[in-house]
Amino acid sequence: MMNKITVVGAGNVGATAAQRLAEKELARRVILVDVIEGVPQGKGLDQWESAPIEGFDTRVLGANDYAAAAGSELVVVTAGIARKPGMSRDDLVRTNADIVKQVSLEIKRHCPDAIVLVVSNPLDVMCWVTKQVTGFPRERVIGMAGVLDTARYRAFLAEALDVSVEDIQAMVLGGHGDTMVPLVSYTTVSGIPVSQLLDKARLDKIVERTRNGGAEIVAFLKTGSAYYAPSAAVTQMVEAIARDKKRILPCAAWVQGEYGVSGIYLGVPCKLGRRGLEQILEVKLSAEEHAALKQSADAVKETMAAVSL
Ligand code: NAI
Ligand code: 2OP
Repeated sequence: MMNKITVVGAGNVGATAAQRLAEKELARRVILVDVIEGVPQGKGLDQWESAPIEGFDTRVLGANDYAAAAGSELVVVTAGIARKPGMSRDDLVRTNADIVKQVSLEIKRHCPDAIVLVVSNPLDVMCWVTKQVTGFPRERVIGMAGVLDTARYRAFLAEALDVSVEDIQAMVLGGHGDTMVPLVSYTTVSGIPVSQLLDKARLDKIVERTRNGGAEIVAFLKTGSAYYAPSAAVTQMVEAIARDKKRILPCAAWVQGEYGVSGIYLGVPCKLGRRGLEQILEVKLSAEEHAALKQSADAVKETMAAVSL
């Protein structure tokens, strides 16, 4: 168990993540920080009041001031504007870059040893902003996207095959955008290659639905974007780090030549443990998957170009 985890942004993703982290008792204290006066305090108190019913002892506290976050071992960054209908993730880039810059300066000042888990969109670019502004090493600035995209892919496959989600092993790599790369060649159902169970046309449809997974939810909600699955993805990554589980999960990591790409954040298979990003695993990809990953990396670079630091 960690001593203190801070979640910046007490909106849909941040508040739901805080509740999940507390219910799993991943830290003694979970601090919710937001710029809106009263909201983090009110949500934090409401969550803490659920503790006697849910049976957790993690104290959830809300604040507008980062002094409350001082010394956090892990900080989850969800601050920003959520995607609205018709708005691409990349439309968000400039507004959220300014917000993430401010947040990163506060993290550097108050939590200099923290591992930072970035969620704000456009994800791969916000990870880069956080790494540049904090000056933290790549081991301590990691992005959440691949776990969510993979969960969507697994859910759609389980539905198509009428099997348990637990029996679908898969990984989605690349940037968190329309160019993400579900690795069909590594997708198995209890070890059986998925291509033996679903024909190419059905698999292609599922891959396409996965790529549009975020937009599909936005089209339903109309005033915001997904948060139940995103907060569950955050919690799985935080648990891997807090409990030093050495889990292999697809995360946005700063690549330095891995998969032939450098100088950007990209979704790649990572080992997560108490030191944060402990290893990037390089696996063999088919020529088609490799080309798709390269295309995804180019899309991330294009979005990065819109931000000046
Ligand atoms: P939301 O609008 O419900 O919450 C955002 C919160 O950030 C608001 O409460 C707002 O007051 C706060 N905020 C704004 N500026 C701030 C600042 N300078 N300091 C502290 N807090 C600040 O949005 P939601 O749904 O929680 O999404 C949050 C972010 O996460 C968005 O950028 C969204 O696109 C992204 N997201 C990323 C996912 C991923 O897979 N990486 C999945 C889902 C959402
Ligand atoms: C999602 O994929 C909006 O990035 C967010 O749901």
